[in-house]
Amino acid sequence: MNILIIGGAGYIGAHVAREFMDAGHKVTAYDNLSSGLEQNIFDGEDFIEGDTMDFIGLIDVMRRGFDAIVYLAAFKSAGESMLRPEKYAVNNIGGAIHVLNAAAESGIKYFIFSSSAAVYGDPQYLPIDEKHPLNPSNFYGFTKLEVERLLEWYDKLKGLRYAALRYFNAAGYDLNQRVTGLERNPANLLPIIMETACGTRKEVIVFGGDYDTPDGSGVRDYIHVTDLARGHTAALEALAKTGTSLVVNLGGGNGISVLEMISAAKRITGRDIPYRITDRRPGDPAKLTASSEKARGLLGWKALYSGLDTLISSSWKVYSK
Ligand code: WQD
Repeated sequence: MNILIIGGAGYIGAHVAREFMDAGHKVTAYDNLSSGLEQNIFDGEDFIEGDTMDFIGLIDVMRRGFDAIVYLAAFKSAGESMLRPEKYAVNNIGGAIHVLNAAAESGIKYFIFSSSAAVYGDPQYLPIDEKHPLNPSNFYGFTKLEVERLLEWYDKLKGLRYAALRYFNAAGYDLNQRVTGLERNPANLLPIIMETACGTRKEVIVFGGDYDTPDGSGVRDYIHVTDLARGHTAALEALAKTGTSLVVNLGGGNGISVLEMISAAKRITGRDIPYRITDRRPGDPAKLTASSEKARGLLGWKALYSGLDTLISSSWKVYSK
């Protein structure tokens, strides 16, 4: 199929593009390069520089004829979203409205949306499944949930069949180092650990060491970005086969703590990784782990590469170059 990946030059977008190309699809990346990198565009992949705020531009591109849209372009820092909600409202919700309206106008059949575990808010039980209450505790999670609600209506009223994929913590790099772009000013844990291992960052600040977890540091469900990408190709296959929209979690299936990540990184990189434990980050839950049973059932998908050592070694192969 002919796939348009909006946000296709980003860290996740590049891995999603790679997976669709490996599965034989024709891929075009649409990206404003605000955080995406042109070096992430592959040979054989078309690239169009553009912004989701440019409705006419989106229509013009989509009229070229695509079978499916993968919509990833959004700001993703939960912390920043609480300080600058207006920026997140315009880009994550306003941008989504333009993309959805252009898709509906252009008769696009399938729509894959990168949603987030942040739609759940504070966990009431673990592992979190898709029946968990939807009560975002940060504005970023609110924007993702709002887009999911728009998708429900566009399915009903415009026949747009969608897959909303609720990502847990994406990490790692392509196992064959085919994606080499490093995120600029990362906020997520593993890139920060990698920069510290490289010596381009002085230390890792550990946000809280007094959580009710085995070593006191925060536990998250890390999913290898290639497993995440495989969830996208599996979701499109399911949409094409059943014509029924779906919402699933995509998680790696194992809870890893901050301190476990740091000590494993020391072991694998052979580098010292200084860290300092400070206060908790407001809004952080102690532990977040996903049930991906629904994705296994609906998509026949399960994580293959999300083990701790693979997450770190695949990242280190890129960062150490
Ligand atoms: C992971 C763990 C931190 C940085 C966010 C979004 C979520 C999703 C993934 C897009 C936590 C700790 C981190 C640091 C630290 N984004 N940490 N020092 O907050 O789980 O999720 O990114 O979909 O929606 O909310 O990811 O990587 O920021 O944090 O101690 O310098 O690492 O406290 O326990 P998070 P993260």
